Amino acid sequence: MSPMSSKLEVNKNDMHSIVKSFPQLLRHSSLDVRLREQLAEMRDDRPTGICFIGMGGSSIAGGYVATSLADTSRQPIAVVRDESLPEYIGQGYVSFVVSYSGNTQETLDAYEILAERGCHTVTMASGGLLSKKKADCFIRLPPGFPPRGALPAMFGALLQATQTILGVPTTDLNHMAEEINLAADSWGGNLSKPAALAEWMRGRIPVFMGSRHLYPVAYRAKCQMNENAKTEAFASPFPEATHNELEGFTEKRAGSFAIVLLKSRAEGATNAKRLDIVAEILSSAGHDCTIVTASAPTQMGEMLELTYHLDLTSVELADINGVDPLSVPKISALKKRLK
Ligand code: F6R
Repeated sequence: MSPMSSKLEVNKNDMHSIVKSFPQLLRHSSLDVRLREQLAEMRDDRPTGICFIGMGGSSIAGGYVATSLADTSRQPIAVVRDESLPEYIGQGYVSFVVSYSGNTQETLDAYEILAERGCHTVTMASGGLLSKKKADCFIRLPPGFPPRGALPAMFGALLQATQTILGVPTTDLNHMAEEINLAADSWGGNLSKPAALAEWMRGRIPVFMGSRHLYPVAYRAKCQMNENAKTEAFASPFPEATHNELEGFTEKRAGSFAIVLLKSRAEGATNAKRLDIVAEILSSAGHDCTIVTASAPTQMGEMLELTYHLDLTSVELADINGVDPLSVPKISALKKRLK
């Protein structure tokens, strides 16, 4: 990663500061020349597929990259959040093994399977056991963040690494950061400010729905509400949810949920209409429902802008709930007991 990483201006003991540094972290995640050269060697071996392996906060970036490249990549791109791997991931694949701490059991176990199968491996960590494992390339993440707070750093680096391996132009991360900052200036228009959205969620269970590139954003938002705001939260893929979940929102639990429908500016006509109708159906069953649309002009910009916004919303909701957004005592206790 760029040597500029050391100059990051962020208070890593404060989740508000971490979340606010989103565009800055993204900018600093550009890969340096040495890493690009190592990755280009794998491109010359013509990989037959790409796989991202990681858990929790270390799995989100891979999901975003897979979605961003799905429309153009001829190679399959898999995302694995598990300690075992599908049989098809083997020789010919380039696998990214991501664990911010470098010590996550599921991720380390999956690494061992990959090593046995002999596929190209790129490891990404801030330290820990994973950083010491043999790999074709190792990407070191800036240390001291909670894993979920390092998403922009993981995303920028994974995106450019995958693009290099696939032999396509790499995204200008400075430009993306600009796009997000510009979009954030317009919040309060079609998208209420994070504090207002958090206030609207007060006392209710957030549910996020999104289609295609906005489903990973919905999933990230759910995880941020869980870990930062310490609330139950759910994410549902759209339009799939309209074939099952829609029926479950009955009048009986009216007022229990804060349903956020993520809508792309480039939404197809049918899906756009579907979103509007679903909002009407949910509202008429007494549920609080809002449609949010990003203002960034590109698909990737939409993903990043909404993530930035909903990450900020999650720390605002943590304040409302009177909880510490940084600590995750239950997750830590489980890891400790499994050791
Ligand atoms: C903590 C967090 C968790 C971790 C997960 C895996 O901030 O977001 O979801 O990401 O428990 O740990 P790592 O990322 O260290 O592999």
